[in-house]
Amino acid sequence: PMSPQDTWKQRAGSAAADLIEEGMVVGLGTGSTAAYLVRALAQRIQQGLQIKGAVASSLATYEMANNLNIPMTDLDDYPELDIYIDGADEIDPQLRLIKGAGGALLREKILASAARRFVVIADSSKKVTQLGHRYPLPVEIIPLAKTPIALQISRLGAQIQIRHNNNIPFITDNHNYILDCTFPQGIGDPAQLDAQLHNIVGVVETGLFIHMVSQVIIGGPEGVQVFPQ
Ligand code: A5P
Repeated sequence: PMSPQDTWKQRAGSAAADLIEEGMVVGLGTGSTAAYLVRALAQRIQQGLQIKGAVASSLATYEMANNLNIPMTDLDDYPELDIYIDGADEIDPQLRLIKGAGGALLREKILASAARRFVVIADSSKKVTQLGHRYPLPVEIIPLAKTPIALQISRLGAQIQIRHNNNIPFITDNHNYILDCTFPQGIGDPAQLDAQLHNIVGVVETGLFIHMVSQVIIGGPEGVQVFPQ
């Protein structure tokens, strides 16, 4: 049986799949909520929907979608996506996001920036009043610069951990490391922090998504809510 939270994620994923129209190029996100989107899209394709193709934000999503017979393509064939749909770890009232708990933030941000429309799907637990209290901010970095980068980010007020998987550093799909950066006071000015992090040489990308989101679909006990309406 599905937990209530899984049911809510599924509602958001299915509602987003219904936004996909004939002939679209679709970006597919990563994570448990995005997996419901992928299943719902596969079902619509099985029922006759024809899309130009889908681009995956991670190797894991590529495998899943390809196994479900979704026609896969890439940004070289289609440098612009009609729609990109993905989950998030935190969503603030201005629709700014923290992403990257799954480690796919760089490709996710590339797809979001290549999309005409970026739709976020989540259950209501992802809504926060301020970013950075529940999840650390993931920052993807060039491995050999880990120590100087960690020093510079710590001077911005963060506590830093190199993400590990079974005692070895987690390697992203792009062969980089992730620094999980905890800001004990929360993130007061996400745009400023994002700019400061991008100024550090060796930082590849941050998990802050600002001015990118077109719409958020929140699944909950009463169905789905869409922001802005
Ligand atoms: C992946 O890198 C993240 O950005 C995901 O979008 C995020 O972790 C959401 O995953 P769930 O839908 O499993 O919560």
